Parts: sequence; structure tokens; C-alpha cells
Amino acid sequence: MKHTALIPGLVLAMTLAGQSVWRVVAQETQISKAAEPKISTAKANSPATLAATTNVRPANGLASEAMVLLRKQCLSCHNQEKKKGGLLMVSRAALLQGGENGPVVVPGKAGDSLLAKVVLAESDPHMPPKKQLSEEQIALLRAWIDDGLKWDAAALAEVPAITIQPSQLRSLPASYQPVLAVRLSADGKRLAAGRGNQICIYDAGLTNHPILTRLEGHRDVIQSLAWSPDGKWLASGGFRRVMLWETQTFKPVMELTNLVGRVTALEFTPESDSLIAADEIPTKSGWIRVWTVGEAEPKLSWTAHADSILDLEISPDGKTLASAGVDKLVKFWELPSGKETGRLEGHTGHVWALAFKPDGSLLASGSADKDVKVWDFKTKDLKTTIGRHPASVTGLAWTHDGKSIISSCEDGAVRLCREAKESPDKTVGTADDMIYGVAVSPDAKTIYAGCHDGLVYVWDVDGKLKDKVGDPESPKKLAAQ
Ligand code: HEC
Repeated sequence: MKHTALIPGLVLAMTLAGQSVWRVVAQETQISKAAEPKISTAKANSPATLAATTNVRPANGLASEAMVLLRKQCLSCHNQEKKKGGLLMVSRAALLQGGENGPVVVPGKAGDSLLAKVVLAESDPHMPPKKQLSEEQIALLRAWIDDGLKWDAAALAEVPAITIQPSQLRSLPASYQPVLAVRLSADGKRLAAGRGNQICIYDAGLTNHPILTRLEGHRDVIQSLAWSPDGKWLASGGFRRVMLWETQTFKPVMELTNLVGRVTALEFTPESDSLIAADEIPTKSGWIRVWTVGEAEPKLSWTAHADSILDLEISPDGKTLASAGVDKLVKFWELPSGKETGRLEGHTGHVWALAFKPDGSLLASGSADKDVKVWDFKTKDLKTTIGRHPASVTGLAWTHDGKSIISSCEDGAVRLCREAKESPDKTVGTADDMIYGVAVSPDAKTIYAGCHDGLVYVWDVDGKLKDKVGDPESPKKLAAQ
């Protein structure tokens, strides 16, 4: 049902360990914090709850210094794997939860915070257990708690400093307008496509797909999109930022920052009350973060994979989140706890895409190893390997009637597969360039595919090309007219 692509900036194909993989040169996507445009909030149009939380904290020197200290002195024991004393320091929410003996920090009150006490020389237990922090380090921790425990996820995750000067920022080249993300609203009436750094919303109910509106606010390539199932929200992910749009007027109501890299996947939970995103430090870590819709701070965040996450899917019952990684794994996480409940090993290349069968019994995964694999969701057994894709499988969608799996492929083709057959049934259509992802209409009759050439290809399921949807105002189209 969705797709994700990890390709901003220029794209180069390389060969690594016999696999064709896509690597990234992200020149254009670097953003200086100082240069990020401020979003004017749409208080008049948005619910009070959202408007009230729209103020995004500025980057804070104290916070980033404290994060560096936590990372160097504390995080090795208080992370997702080790969790010493039951205490996690991977996010503000996790730290606020405290450890086995309850809360360890009171924001604004270092004097009442156990965290500030355990670092003192005479403390028992003493932290870090075999070291003594300096006076300055202790003073820094106290000042940071007194200042309200502001968080800087990038500093905690050790994201390389951004060195590009604001003056070096350029807009995206007119020729680089790939459609990396294409999503259909749950009712099938509206189609959202990221095109370069803009989002185009189309009327999917009309055969000529007129453009309804164009959303601007991201500086870099749109990597991911998600509609909330209730239709009220659209979320878009770029570099270190998620924007939330309300879908009556398509005004931005919220900006979620404090992320470490490109937002490679987005999903709303079935109740539309939480938003889940994946962001990444390529070759190091793939993060999953969960927000309550309307809140600026994630309630959960954890490193889920050892490299970028390329897709997220939620099981139809809403109880499990599945994540697909460059590390070749599919992992399952219980919702809302975020606890790992299983993993699928079997692909020999990046896992690019996931799709649940609508009845929740099966999960399909598509990979750079050119296979689609179909797994029994309950037993985690591999049921079928659908081979014979000539290149990486980049996107998957399972039709709502449960009958077919639609795959998109680096060769530009969209194919129709069956869960129990070992090769695709047929090629629905072929675009002029690489396809990054697919969406299918609720009646299973129409397929939308986002292409590197900046167009969304629309086929009916029998293979008739119905439309190629672009942006009438894009520089490319204008030049062609
Ligand atoms: C080498 C591993 C290690 C490092 C490094 C470490 N801790 Fe701990 N931490 C532990 C263990 C083990 C416990 C549980 C100890 C206990 O309850 O006796 C713990 C417990 C805690 C607790 C809870 C204490 C309680 O009584 O509930 C706090 C607060 C804490 N650590 C803070 C920190 C801070 C702050 C740092 C960095 C300055 C840090 N820790 C670094 C291992 C570590």
C-alpha cells in the first residue's frame, strides 16, 4: 500500500556484494537549521489542540551538550538492548518514564531528580558505575534538567554536523522531480504524490485526475506520505522533518522535527490517533518514532534496524507494526508498546516494501534480491517466493479484495502477482523509468505508480494506461509545451 524510497539528491546505482543497490548522494537535501523555513500555523483552521502544540522548540545548545554527555557516558547501558535498571535514555519520553524504581527526572527541578543525584561522588548506586563525572559535567546535567529537559535527537544519535552554509542551499534542480511517494486516501477519492519537494493532491474520482492543490513547505525531496484512515490528516516526510496537514483546507498544522535523517516511511494507526515514522542514519541505524497525533514530542522512539528502514506497515488489526530494512530483515513490533515480537529472515537484499493481505493472514515483502516473499503472519513461515522480477522490487500493494499483490520494480514495470504462484501472473504496464511505489484503488481496478520521471502512471488492472499524471506547472512540462 505504500512505498518508500530512500533516494534524495542524485541517484547512483552501485554494485555491492553482488547486489544492485541504490546509494545516495544527498547534496541538495542538506538543510541548515537556521535556514529552515518557519511554518505559519493555521490556527484559524485547525483544532485548538493542534494549534497549541505547533510551536517547535528551537535548537538548543544546552540540550545538544547534554545529549552528547548522555550518549558518551550513559547511553551504552541505558539503551533499548541493555536497559540497565529498566531505564532507557533513547528519547525524552523514555527517560521521563524512569526505571524499575519509578521516575528519575523532574523537568525543571534538578534538586528533585534522581538522575542528578546518582552522578554525585558519594551516591549509591553511582553513575556511571565505574567513573566519576567532572563538576562541569554534573553542572551541565543539572542546568539541562532545570531548563526543562529539552531534547535534541540528532545530537543524541550523533548525526554528523551539518556543514553546509545557508548560502550554499539551492532549490532542487528542475530536472530532479521524482515521485518517490504516492498514496491514495482510504476512500480512494484523493491521490497524494510527492514530486520533488512539493506534494500534489489530485482528484482520483475523475478520469483526468485534475490537480486539487499543491502543498509547499518541504525544502527537499518528499520521501514518504500517509493519509490518516479517517481522512482528516495527511503526513509528509522529508529530511529531518514530518509535516502534518489537515485535509479540509490543506494547511500545515504541525511540524515534527528533532529527527536524525530522511523520513523514509510514514503510517497512521487504524484509529488515526497515532502517527509512526521511520528516520535514519544510513549504514548506522533506522529509527521508529510514534507520536500521538497533535503532540510535538514522540511518545516512543527506538532504533529498530541497523540501517535505514524502507517501509512500515501496520497489521489490519492494528496490533503489530512491521518494518523493512536495508539490513535485509523484516521485524515485528507490538503496538502500542514497541516491543519486538519477531523477525523474518530470508531476503538476501534490502527489503524495500511490505504489504499485508487485508484479512491479516499473510504479509508480502519485496526486496532488492528481486523476489517477493509471502509469509504466514501467524507462524512466520515462508509460504511462497514470487521470483522472476528482473530487478529490485521497490513497492507492493495488496488489493482490497485480497486476490492480487501488485509489485513495482526498478525496471519500470508494475506486475500482478498471486499469493501462491511462484512468478508474476502478468505485467500490468511499464513506465519510462524506475517506479518507486504503487497504490491501488479500493475497488482493486486502478493502479497508481510513482515514477522517477516525475509522473504518476495510472493503469487499469487489465493493463490499459488510463493517464499519466504530472504537474501542469512543473518546469519540465512547461518546457515541453
Ligand atoms: C556501565 C553501565 C552503566 C552506565 C554507563 C550508566 N549506568 Fe545508570 N545504571 C546502570 C545499572 C546497572 C543500573 C541499575 C543499578 C541499580 O539499581 O543498582 C543503573 C541505574 C540508573 C539509574 C536508576 C537508579 C535507581 O535507583 O533507580 C539512573 C538514574 C541512572 N542509572 C543514571 C545514569 C546516568 C545519568 C548515567 C550517565 C551519566 C548512567 N546511568 C550510566 C548501569 C549504567
